[in-house]
Amino acid sequence: MRLLITGASGLLGLNLSLEASACYTVIGVARTPLQGVPFEAHGVDLLQEGMAAKLIREFRPDAVLHCAALTYPDQCEAHPDLAWRMNTWLPARLAEQCTAAHIPLLHISTDAVFDGRAHTPYTEAHPPNPLNVYARTKWEAEKAVLEIYPQALVVRTNFYGWSASGQRSLAEFFFYNLSQNKTVNGFTDAIFCPILVNDLARLLLEMLERGLSGLYHVLGPQPMSKYEFGIAIARRFGLDERLIRPGSIAESDLKAPRAMHLWLSTEKVRQALGHPLPEFSTGLEQFYAQFLVGYPQKLRRYPQSIPFS
Ligand SMILES: NC(=O)c1ccc[n+]([C@@H]2O[C@H](COP(=O)([O-])OP(=O)(O)OC[C@H]3O[C@@H](n4cnc5c(N)ncnc54)[C@H](OP(=O)(O)O)[C@@H]3O)[C@@H](O)[C@H]2O)c1
Repeated sequence: MRLLITGASGLLGLNLSLEASACYTVIGVARTPLQGVPFEAHGVDLLQEGMAAKLIREFRPDAVLHCAALTYPDQCEAHPDLAWRMNTWLPARLAEQCTAAHIPLLHISTDAVFDGRAHTPYTEAHPPNPLNVYARTKWEAEKAVLEIYPQALVVRTNFYGWSASGQRSLAEFFFYNLSQNKTVNGFTDAIFCPILVNDLARLLLEMLERGLSGLYHVLGPQPMSKYEFGIAIARRFGLDERLIRPGSIAESDLKAPRAMHLWLSTEKVRQALGHPLPEFSTGLEQFYAQFLVGYPQKLRRYPQSIPFS
């Protein structure tokens, strides 16, 4: 089975490509593909007109796993047209092509489609109310993808892990700053449900193998503040937790408004798969075990080639 994975240099795309390449033939595409990876890597600009059709025609995948996006909320706020094209227009084009080719499509969305004002867990039935350009373009993509291709699988998530740049996840932010004895802010009023990216990758592959379709929340089952998350990272790695200053996201200088209380229910996916999702503590142990065996260094040894322009 041939999987086309977009965003294969990013945090999710790379880890998913590595997990998937153990069982499948992976064709990973990114603007600046990584070199030396154990899967076929290509440099493409997904925003080029006709690119979605070209990828399906040339690579003939049996499924498309779409992880590429413009993911930084402040960048989306500054460039709303680019954000819309990348986060809404492109997924819609991929949905058209996957429908026509009769192949499964996995589209990745975000917990940030919600406004974070509810204090009970958000289910898939809860109406979104995105607060910024990033979240709005991601929600519009969910609607477009499922309207064009109702059999598509759309997953809202939030994850952490090791990346090729060392700069793509909140866990890396805490780990690398604390390792250099730098003081950092940890937001006490920003609640999320982090899942280790490798646990997420294996769940996504399982969902595809089981032929699931429609909208699912796939995150960690345990809500926590970003401050508590930083403390957990510090303790697991034996770093100085006093370097994490409790702060407020509401009072931060972040440009795009952020949803503050993103506790999402994972009951639907738990029932569909028939087993619980990995606990935060087991994910954190695995994140630490990956560090001990040099996984972050391994990812950082994959150099990025020249960006496709
Ligand atoms: N990180 C999180 O915790 C989080 C939370 C909620 C949802 N998500 C969603 O999860 C998905 C993956 O996020 P991530 O954090 O793994 O992303 P990421 O690390 O920021 O990676 C984004 C990927 O998209 C590629 N890309 C961007 N523009 C492109 C273009 N024009 N042509 C080709 N490739 C392009 C990038 O390639 P280059 O590196 O070559 O530019 C990179 O591989 C996204 O849909 C995101 O919205 C992420």
